[in-house]
Amino acid sequence: MADLLVSPQQTPLRGTIRVPGDKSISHRAVLFSAIAEGQSRVEGWLPAGDTLATLEVMRALGVPITVSEDEPNAWSLTVEGQGLCGLQPPAAPLDCRNAGTCIRLLAGILAGQPFPSVLDGSEQLRRRPMRRIVTPLQAMGAVIESEDGHAPLTINPASLSGIRYRLPVASAQVKSAVLLAALYARGATRVRQPGPARDHTERMLAAMGVPLRAGRHWVRLPAGKRRLRPLQMVVPGDISSAAFPLVAATLLPGSAIRVEGVGVNPTRTGILELLANMGASVSVEAERESGGEPVADLTARFDELHATSVSGDVVVRAIDEFPIWAVAASQAAGASTLRDAAELRVKEVDRIGVLAGELRLLGIPIAETADGFTIHGPVRPRGGTVSSHGDHRLGMALAVAGLMATGPVRVLDADCVSDSFPGFVETMQALGASMSWEI
Ligand code: S3P
Repeated sequence: MADLLVSPQQTPLRGTIRVPGDKSISHRAVLFSAIAEGQSRVEGWLPAGDTLATLEVMRALGVPITVSEDEPNAWSLTVEGQGLCGLQPPAAPLDCRNAGTCIRLLAGILAGQPFPSVLDGSEQLRRRPMRRIVTPLQAMGAVIESEDGHAPLTINPASLSGIRYRLPVASAQVKSAVLLAALYARGATRVRQPGPARDHTERMLAAMGVPLRAGRHWVRLPAGKRRLRPLQMVVPGDISSAAFPLVAATLLPGSAIRVEGVGVNPTRTGILELLANMGASVSVEAERESGGEPVADLTARFDELHATSVSGDVVVRAIDEFPIWAVAASQAAGASTLRDAAELRVKEVDRIGVLAGELRLLGIPIAETADGFTIHGPVRPRGGTVSSHGDHRLGMALAVAGLMATGPVRVLDADCVSDSFPGFVETMQALGASMSWEI
């Protein structure tokens, strides 16, 4: 396990960078291409810990995938789609490692297969709730068992029926699991969601010829024969990764950076709204489209921030950004409050309790509530030793906090940053950031 050493940043961040491909889209590109009819080609694919788990699992299900490592952190994949019913029985349990998206979406696909399978993962993944997918899949007729609502999941062959399902939480992973199972089900399926969970599944399936219809709060897959056409796409940069350098530039005096080719799907851009509400200078330029997803160049420059309150729909659209938003809030004048974010407690770690504990170690005053937290700023963090607790986004947020600190910060167990952002440290260094791996 590698530690990350961060020194107080003395100079502004400057430059133009790209961030690796979107994690949510990279998972889906492999999963959906695997059950398409024919050869798919995906460029700019993210080779991170989580997405590599999906790639290996699909190979274990008999899907030929060739990889060309064009750039270290942007691969091109050629996937030989096997059609909806052409996957092969796996020889062993499928290891989804730390990837919640992998296990939950794959459960939807495997629920409709004529062979049994077992889905498992790391200790961290085994702690995350799986009842949220088991319940609707069982209601569709799936024969799926969990260990008291947790992985490993054992799936046996079953014939599935469509469902009308109201998601209890706005989760794209649950919505996607139901929609994928629906591809194998008799009859129509309709899913209602309480808030705008990311819609990459709907966009990608539609681009592959599946006749989905979607509104802000619902998705419908009509009855009838389903086939997926092969996919051709360039994966946009991950806004959830771009958020770290963007926030760092917002907080460090004199900074001005540009991140090119970032996905700006409106179900993902909550962080840009939150930063704008705090007075940050982040702009979206040269908007264009790639593979059915909007893409843009984002620029950020230093500005004084003021506190803000966050609740409601925007929480879903910024759900992965609260570790780094907390760092921004710690530098904003006044009391910033987050509410309606209880989902953070069931992410890679409890991203309320664990985040609060680590920020306090750096002297940042943060008060937890059941569904969020309040931070009084601005407070310059002090130096010290903190831990990622094996959570990539917590590790990167603590590294950015370290740049603002009065003394050196060591982030323990930080190599997990490559679960979503391989090259994070090198990318930050390219902007002039004073952080490095301990050798
Ligand atoms: C994801 C959905 C979100 C998000 C996760 C990726 C996806 O989780 O937090 O990082 O790719 O569908 P939930 O669906 O549990 O909200």
